[in-house]
Amino acid sequence: MLATTLMTGGLGASPYFLDPEQARTVTPPLRFESRELSPDAVPNLGFAARPFDPQAVRRDFPILQERVHGRPLIWLDNAATTQKPNAVIDRLSEFYRHENSNIHRAAHTLAARATDAYESAREKVRRFLNAPSAREIIFVRGTTEGINLVAQSWGRRNVEQDDEIIITWLEHHANIVPWQQLCAEKGARLRVAPVDDRGQVILEEYEKLFSSRTKLVAFSQVSNALGTVTPVREMVEIAHRYGARVMVDGAQAVSHLRVDVQSLDCDWYVFSGHKVFGPTGIGVVFGKEELLNATPPWQGGGNMIVDVTFEKTIYQPAPGRFEAGTGNIADAVGLGAALDYLDQIGMENVSRYEHELLVYGTEGLLSVPGLRLIGTAAEKAGVLSFVLDGFRTEDVGKALDEEGIAVRAGHHCAQPILRRFGLESTVRPSLALYNTYEDLDALVAALRRIQAGHGGWSHQ
Ligand code: ALA
Repeated sequence: MLATTLMTGGLGASPYFLDPEQARTVTPPLRFESRELSPDAVPNLGFAARPFDPQAVRRDFPILQERVHGRPLIWLDNAATTQKPNAVIDRLSEFYRHENSNIHRAAHTLAARATDAYESAREKVRRFLNAPSAREIIFVRGTTEGINLVAQSWGRRNVEQDDEIIITWLEHHANIVPWQQLCAEKGARLRVAPVDDRGQVILEEYEKLFSSRTKLVAFSQVSNALGTVTPVREMVEIAHRYGARVMVDGAQAVSHLRVDVQSLDCDWYVFSGHKVFGPTGIGVVFGKEELLNATPPWQGGGNMIVDVTFEKTIYQPAPGRFEAGTGNIADAVGLGAALDYLDQIGMENVSRYEHELLVYGTEGLLSVPGLRLIGTAAEKAGVLSFVLDGFRTEDVGKALDEEGIAVRAGHHCAQPILRRFGLESTVRPSLALYNTYEDLDALVAALRRIQAGHGGWSHQ
């Protein structure tokens, strides 16, 4: 019953959906001149998505009622972190009020409650990623720690002198630096797949980088700086043809797209809870079970062992062997609540709505004189990076903040890709399911005011 509901995203009596008449009230008003749009492809979602009511969603996120500089908050910094619904905030409070204990180790009631809550969160993550087994789900601190786990455990064991690791130009520093460190330690080489002028990986060039020395490929499913959605399935298939393992950084994908690790066939998939409406300090590594059990642990301590003598330690199988010490139990439970919340709405419905917002926002931004979008891939999700002629990005960020609009301005921890476009920084509004067409109208109107020199902001 639950599974059917989750698959279709169809909840008859759900507060989040509109009937067709109501749906017309959230259809984007055609305020901008029609033009050829980029992104120009609606993902082929292959199902009938239902329009949901963003106002109902917004009511679940108390922070969206905040005022900033006397204005209602417009949160467009979702690529940095997403806001939390009551379901997550309340679940954390419930855990600390009624369940808090360490897990696995004690024979008392609260230990059983905490263990059940933690392991049930692991099962929710399994379902969210469509992983075959909960034994393939490791809790970590976040995407960065997840990537370092793969580099330090699998990488150290398997990458040797003169081996090669392939990444792409799109990567966040978290998916560059751990591989550079590993290459420096092992005498291996980092190779980088180029992107075209729209910010899309050039698949032919990517494939040319492979050789019998290629051990590993690591790339993001969605670029945090440009919003490009990479062709994960094709990239994984090419890598596997050359016998390389593949790690996918899903940090920017999980709040926008349904992820199915079996269909992607990646060897590892990592993401952070806070990017998907869950708490900070909790994240996930999915890894294929056989691979995880053939990989040495990266940290030693309690919880990850079967038996310890002074001569020898026998490790747990996955996931225990990668969860040394007391983990972030409450926040794992909070992440489970966030994934339940998303399931109620249906990821396909979120994707469809957000895609419409992205197209609308793209059109709006392109109507601002002197604005240049950075990253115009045919397949994009969540991110609208831009520069405004004659204005420093940090000044645009500050001016927007004064209007209550939160965006990130800077290098977004992705300096190589911005430099590929001749830039050191961009302004980056980024979307989530609680954003509205009105948020984007407010952004565009504010940018027009900045551009016109109103409000004291002038050309640099
Ligand atoms: N990686 C996060 C971002 O892109 C922090 O903003």
